[in-house]
Amino acid sequence: MTDRVLTKTEPSGAATASEGPTSQQAELELVGIAKKFETKRTSTLALTGIDLAIGRREFVSVIGRSGCGKTTLLRTLAGLVSPSEGEVRVQGRGLWRGNSRDPEVMHKFGVIFQDANLFPWYTVEENIALPLRMRGEDKRSRLHRAHELAELVGLTGFERSYPRELSGGMRQRTAIARALSYRPEILLMDEPFGALDALTRERMNLEVQSIATTTEATVVFVTHDITEAVFLADRVVLLSPRPGRIKSITDIALQRPRELDLQTTPQFQDIVRTLRHQLYEDEA
Ligand SMILES: Nc1ncnc2c1ncn2[C@@H]1O[C@H](COP(=O)(O)OP(=O)(O)OP(=O)(O)O)[C@@H](O)[C@H]1O
Ligand SMILES: [Mg+2]
Repeated sequence: MTDRVLTKTEPSGAATASEGPTSQQAELELVGIAKKFETKRTSTLALTGIDLAIGRREFVSVIGRSGCGKTTLLRTLAGLVSPSEGEVRVQGRGLWRGNSRDPEVMHKFGVIFQDANLFPWYTVEENIALPLRMRGEDKRSRLHRAHELAELVGLTGFERSYPRELSGGMRQRTAIARALSYRPEILLMDEPFGALDALTRERMNLEVQSIATTTEATVVFVTHDITEAVFLADRVVLLSPRPGRIKSITDIALQRPRELDLQTTPQFQDIVRTLRHQLYEDEA
């Protein structure tokens, strides 16, 4: 059981409470997930009672205050954190078999973290193409793909640069290109644009929208930014402060493709305002 409080239906009908896909339709599913981190001195309950089903090609944003468990939720989905309770299912298959993960399921994920995590001794194009090299693709086709992706994320001309020669934002864009290189079915993104300036971030939001559409990927996107969350998502999941529980799930029924001007409409701003109130109502 979650303590889920579903959001009220907005008069505009653009944001409605959501139950999401059924278990049978789900691409990704968290069932009764709890995560407790135990160290010698501390025990932290990061997540509890998380039930969430995400449909094929759905774009789900996850928001919540710092420390509420967003990264833990994403890492649990990606199989990088093993749940203390509950099960992660991908296309109906359990992600975990005892203490090990199903390698076939792990191949479906492309993961992008807060830090770019590039290999400093490889150039931009080599970093982008690395997953393809590991999958045995020939050099010509991987470099072709690397250049295509460098262009997509605005790094044309920097393909031969090393990570130390790039700005933080450019490193992050390299990491995004790398995660897209092998066309993953499921993209898991943890505050990928936190380090980018506002203009680049807006541009990347448009890129992510078009990438999600063209690649037909299912996306889970963690962010602090409510506007970004609403702009990108089909549904916004709001986590309560620690231990993270699902406080609300909001359907964002705004037409696609979405242009940046949408953010200035009353309909959009109503949704953002409602979510902001929910985020702050836990503050004593
Ligand atoms: N590996 C770990 N070992 C111990 N505690 C951890 C570990 N990872 C996370 N935690 C704890 O779990 C809680 C949730 O952390 P998490 O990183 O998921 O939050 P978050 O919502 O992503 O925060 P932020 O918005 O600042 O990135 C925190 O109290 C954190 O200290
Ligand atoms: Mg985090």
